[in-house]
Amino acid sequence: MPGVKKIIAVLPGDGIGPEIMRAAIALLTDCAATFGHQFEFRELPFGGSAIDRTGNPLPDATLAGCKSADAVLLAAIGGLQWDKLPLEKRPEAGLLRLRKELGLYINLRPVRPRPALRGISPLKPERLGQCDIEIIRELAGDIYFGKHERRGEGANAWASDVAEYSTAEVDRVARYAFERAESRRGKLTSVDKANVLATSALWRQTVTALGKKYPTIELEHMYVDNASMQILLKPDQFDVILTGNMFGDILSDEASALAGSIGLIPSMSRGKEGTPALYEPIHGSAPSLAGKDVACPIGMISSASLMLRESFGLETEAQWIEAGIDRVLDHGYRTIDISSPDSRVVRCSEFVELVRGDVHDALTHTERYGWGV
Ligand code: IPM
Ligand code: MG
Repeated sequence: MPGVKKIIAVLPGDGIGPEIMRAAIALLTDCAATFGHQFEFRELPFGGSAIDRTGNPLPDATLAGCKSADAVLLAAIGGLQWDKLPLEKRPEAGLLRLRKELGLYINLRPVRPRPALRGISPLKPERLGQCDIEIIRELAGDIYFGKHERRGEGANAWASDVAEYSTAEVDRVARYAFERAESRRGKLTSVDKANVLATSALWRQTVTALGKKYPTIELEHMYVDNASMQILLKPDQFDVILTGNMFGDILSDEASALAGSIGLIPSMSRGKEGTPALYEPIHGSAPSLAGKDVACPIGMISSASLMLRESFGLETEAQWIEAGIDRVLDHGYRTIDISSPDSRVVRCSEFVELVRGDVHDALTHTERYGWGV
């Protein structure tokens, strides 16, 4: 593909965010040089660090910068020091507002254990099978965006969160899920709690009606409690899973464990065609690891690769990053969180240097000089 010019809004956020974001930018910079593209990175304050600087997790300039970019790359937000703030002032509230403002109603989370890491999956290889799942989580509705209320204190306290869905909201995300299934193995599992919840009954009715337009797709419905069990019992029965905002949040963390660690999984959040999509690893800001250069950068750099593929149509470049990660893993290098006794444990920055360069069998800095502090 001829060289492209893209503006990327970069939101490093909190905790390990800045370290893993550096990794992604280094790789994207190499990618641009190798394939003749121009990527302009615009770094913007977001999350807890933005609260500290401006009092607002999503400053106006950050929102404007995201809206005018071709894509948004986010690392992670949140941390203990902001946990005391009221819900509507916390870093997480900034993320929900950003999703709303950018119209991001589709959230895609692929769970595909990497060949070199099958050994760290909690499932035995025969149970893991050919696990390759795409979870599509509705991202703009449900109990996340209904009215949140709290009255009274102590023994007299009362709180309420309202879950809401309209046919149109279910229909637009379900269309995407059907299309996604068409481009894969042709199976769609819609997950709900239609035996109890009105929103789920509407969800099921809407997905069933839409299914008539996709006769080649094998559509099944599953209750969320059963789905959470089936993901562990027989993950390779799933191709595309479609579900609401709350269930999707929970099931995607559960499913990520199949790959060995939540630190490995990327995500895409998108809205209408032609608007900027947002890419982020699904893990959090891991405050206890921040500044130590030990975090696993794979979820973050895979998110950069997903951005190249999905937003920029750069399939070869996306594969170039993916192949780089697998090559380094094949040589036995691991960050500490995904290591096993026979691994060559490296720091976050070393892992990325190995992906950037040709992996060779020379000693890494850690192997030569020790792990250090
Ligand atoms: C996620 C996170 C967020 C969510 C939080 C940080 C608001 O858990 O992206 O999965 O619940 O959507
Ligand atoms: Mg989550």
